[in-house]
Amino acid sequence: MSQQSASGPTDLVVFGGTGDLSMRKLLPSLYLLDRDGHLDGGTRVVTVSRDGLTDADLRGKAAAAVRGHQAVQVAEPDVLHRFLTRLSHVTVDVGGDPAGWSDLADALGTGRERVFYLAVPPMISGPICRGLSDAGLVTPGSRVVMEKPLGRDLASSQEVNDAVGAVFSEEQTYRIDHYLGKETVQNLLVLRFANVFLEPLWNSRWIDHVQITAAETVGVGGRRGYYDTSGAMRDMVQNHLLQLLCLTAMEPPSSYDREAVRDEKLKVLQSLRPLSGDLVAQDTVRGQYAPGRIHGTEVSGYLDEPGGAPGATAETYVALRAEIANWRWAGVPFYLRTGKRLARDRSEIVIRFRDVPHTIFPGIETPPGAASLVIRLQPDEGIHLTMLAKTPGAGALRLRPVPLELSFADTFANRAPEAYERLLADVLAGDSTLFMRRDEVEAAWRWVDPIIEAWNGLHTSPETYPAGSPGPVGAHRLIGRTGRTWYEEEQSR
Ligand code: BG6
Repeated sequence: MSQQSASGPTDLVVFGGTGDLSMRKLLPSLYLLDRDGHLDGGTRVVTVSRDGLTDADLRGKAAAAVRGHQAVQVAEPDVLHRFLTRLSHVTVDVGGDPAGWSDLADALGTGRERVFYLAVPPMISGPICRGLSDAGLVTPGSRVVMEKPLGRDLASSQEVNDAVGAVFSEEQTYRIDHYLGKETVQNLLVLRFANVFLEPLWNSRWIDHVQITAAETVGVGGRRGYYDTSGAMRDMVQNHLLQLLCLTAMEPPSSYDREAVRDEKLKVLQSLRPLSGDLVAQDTVRGQYAPGRIHGTEVSGYLDEPGGAPGATAETYVALRAEIANWRWAGVPFYLRTGKRLARDRSEIVIRFRDVPHTIFPGIETPPGAASLVIRLQPDEGIHLTMLAKTPGAGALRLRPVPLELSFADTFANRAPEAYERLLADVLAGDSTLFMRRDEVEAAWRWVDPIIEAWNGLHTSPETYPAGSPGPVGAHRLIGRTGRTWYEEEQSR
């Protein structure tokens, strides 16, 4: 969380405020902030949607959402009551009856800070911002939060950014990538830049390759319609995985300052070797899950999930090999992969070090995968270093990889906040370090667009993989081509 203390009284106005994201993430996170003393006593939350809810309806839904959230466990009745009284609902039909905008103006009154959170599809962001501006609700201190997807390609992303930018300055704009709010993701910067021993090794001389994985057991659930047009490339790679790649690969910023960090991330995105044409077929793999079993339960395949087009070719899995063309990383492959309905939930960054330049133990077998650093984002956040040690004994010398393990849960007594708690607290405090700047988002699209175009040009379907499996076979070929192995396979040998 930012070092700035909690903000003053603010109105947080959530468009799409009765939708899925708001109920699953935003309202429970706000409750937790309130419970832990990070919400100013005067802060109010106003949800906005078309659905004509009363305040009582909203509070009922919100109470159920808070109670059902896994990080809340038991809602404290006094805190819940206090939190619910902060909530109210206003019905606005964006682009429809203008009366809603004056209802919103009446509800907000004057003289308070305002944060407008757009938890809506990107094409509605522009009309909402215009509506807010026409209703005189935007002040120099107002902020706007944009949720993903931030467009579906570079052109549409620029359109949305232009429409929002016509009303809010870049300074006032907070583009969320919730992966940046994850505890271990921020720890990555501390690990790299607050310790002296890693940075000298953090380059092509000592690192063989990097693996960045976001594997999920969940399917697309009720989001089949969205996924048909998005796919994992737009949903996960363009944002979450590329942000992780940036933090792993960036040069040290001069300080932990918003623009300094963003400048360094941008340079990484701009240094990505373009993937297009034949390289796409060679260096990327698309998959789509077929029926299978997850933890012993039968689950449907993607095409049987409700709400989508028959025969849709959206990818639910992507693996690719990226390269960063700069001095530090030339020749080091960065393998990125993400997928739904995989065997395990696991998000991690694996840094695989090179072998020692010369062994003084000739003839002694060195097990593979010895020197790896794993930064585990979820579950079981922590850092895991594997190194070689001598197996105790007076006989022949034997080496074995041994783990050095840091579990955040075991090491720190305080609870790690949810990603959205941290990011909401930062927005309320006016700290946008952990949010994406427009040029970063656009640089990411610039790299991703030609890959999607090449896939579309191939007119082939993604490779299928059974739900509950490690993913499509092609992903094993992708990394295996150079004699390398995915980390978990190496471990299970
Ligand atoms: C979202 C994607 O941004 O991130 C989802 O739209 C995905 O498809 C989710 O499931 C993963 O987030 P987390 O925090 O559970 O890793």
